[in-house]
Amino acid sequence: MSKKLTVAFAGLGSRGNAYAESCALMSDKIEIVACADIIPGKVTRFAEKYGVPAEGCYSSAEEMLQKDRLADVMFICTMDKQHYGHAIPALEKDYHLVLEKPISTDLRECTEIARVANERDRKVIVCHTMRYTPFARKIKEIIDSGVLGKVLSIQASEGVTFWHQAHSFVRGNWRNSDETSPMILQKCCHDMDMFLWLTGKHCKSVSSFGELSHFKAECAPEGAHERCSEECPAYATCPYSIERYLHHAKEGSFSWPLDVVSPATNYDDFRRDLLAGPYSRCVYHCDNNVVDHQVVNLQFEDDLTISFSMCAFTNGSCGRRLHIMGTHGDLIACTEDKQLKVNLFRRGIEEVQYVDTGALTDAFGHGGGDYILVEDLVSLFEGKCAESVTSINDSVESHVVSLAVEASRVSGGCLVKIDEYLKEIK
Ligand SMILES: NC(=O)c1ccc[n+]([C@@H]2O[C@H](COP(=O)([O-])OP(=O)(O)OC[C@H]3O[C@@H](n4cnc5c(N)ncnc54)[C@H](O)[C@@H]3O)[C@@H](O)[C@H]2O)c1
Repeated sequence: MSKKLTVAFAGLGSRGNAYAESCALMSDKIEIVACADIIPGKVTRFAEKYGVPAEGCYSSAEEMLQKDRLADVMFICTMDKQHYGHAIPALEKDYHLVLEKPISTDLRECTEIARVANERDRKVIVCHTMRYTPFARKIKEIIDSGVLGKVLSIQASEGVTFWHQAHSFVRGNWRNSDETSPMILQKCCHDMDMFLWLTGKHCKSVSSFGELSHFKAECAPEGAHERCSEECPAYATCPYSIERYLHHAKEGSFSWPLDVVSPATNYDDFRRDLLAGPYSRCVYHCDNNVVDHQVVNLQFEDDLTISFSMCAFTNGSCGRRLHIMGTHGDLIACTEDKQLKVNLFRRGIEEVQYVDTGALTDAFGHGGGDYILVEDLVSLFEGKCAESVTSINDSVESHVVSLAVEASRVSGGCLVKIDEYLKEIK
């Protein structure tokens, strides 16, 4: 690449900043030339931090998209239901895209984005960040090497972690599927995508059960207040109280998720914003509707069966777990470990290290995936690869499966055949 790749950012929240940080580390190859957010303070902070000139700062993605093309690539990091409305005009302006997942919450919009991208010969990297992690890459390498024989069964789980559920899926942005996405699409499209990518096989049918069982009014401790505070009788015993936020703020640590609550970097201002905003609502008195636990059965081609379970009620040590069973060996992996176990039936158990140094995974989100995704973007434009690891054409299927799973859950667990589901929604 003789000249630097220029990029513009739409949406300067957690994700926009995470990718911008990686871009800044590759500043010899990438230059951030434009940015947009509807919150002026976010634009100012982003522009200062990443050196975006004043003429490249916009008060919304819509305003930025009215201008002639400003960069080679646009990162679309706005909210779930905005992606389509930002992606299509950006493609029509001939931007290549880095597009946050979900591509869209509507399957027709997902396929439309893919169609326009293909028609205009634009690259769209979908942020299925799991695929970029050393963890997932090592598992894929082992499966593809054939040592496990034919993979016939996978048991997988995602432990969301109790406070992450409370922060994002009860009080926060993704609490209500009518406003954003159902849990299986929002949180677990990564898992559906991993199953498709790791095995290289297609899903034929699904069934699912899941409920919002705990974070609702009838589960509130006796006398619980609608707003969390020390005055609430449940404050001292409730694991979901705001004490956790305040503890981190007292320690002077204002990184995610505190930076979602408030831009403040001192205790008093942070506490003021917390008490005034949505994140101090009682978890039993919110307008949330997404499930806190869900199980899924997936039938893939070639007799592969997969069972998956998502649950809010875990405590950080769990992350994503995979038990992949083949005819010649099995593999056990957990995102919280630095090693995975391969048990070949003729050779026995071998511990496989999947991260050379902790530096990448420690410094960047999603087990190093955020940083490696930006590296992949650079490689694509340097001509080192013909397609990204998560092209739009490879990524839509995970959304088809996720939405079919949700259709099954909503119907009480009925069998949904993917080909019939696709015909229905066309
Ligand atoms: N790849 C992953 O693993 C992963 C992880 C978390 C979130 N996400 C996805 O990333 C997206 C962003 O999530 P986030 O955590 O950064 O949310 P966020 O709320 O922190 O950021 C979204 C930003 O978009 C801004 N915005 C809203 N309307 C806008 C407009 N019209 N023009 C410009 N900016 C606008 C908001 O002000 C906000 O700053 C979501 O779709 C989410 O589902 C992906």
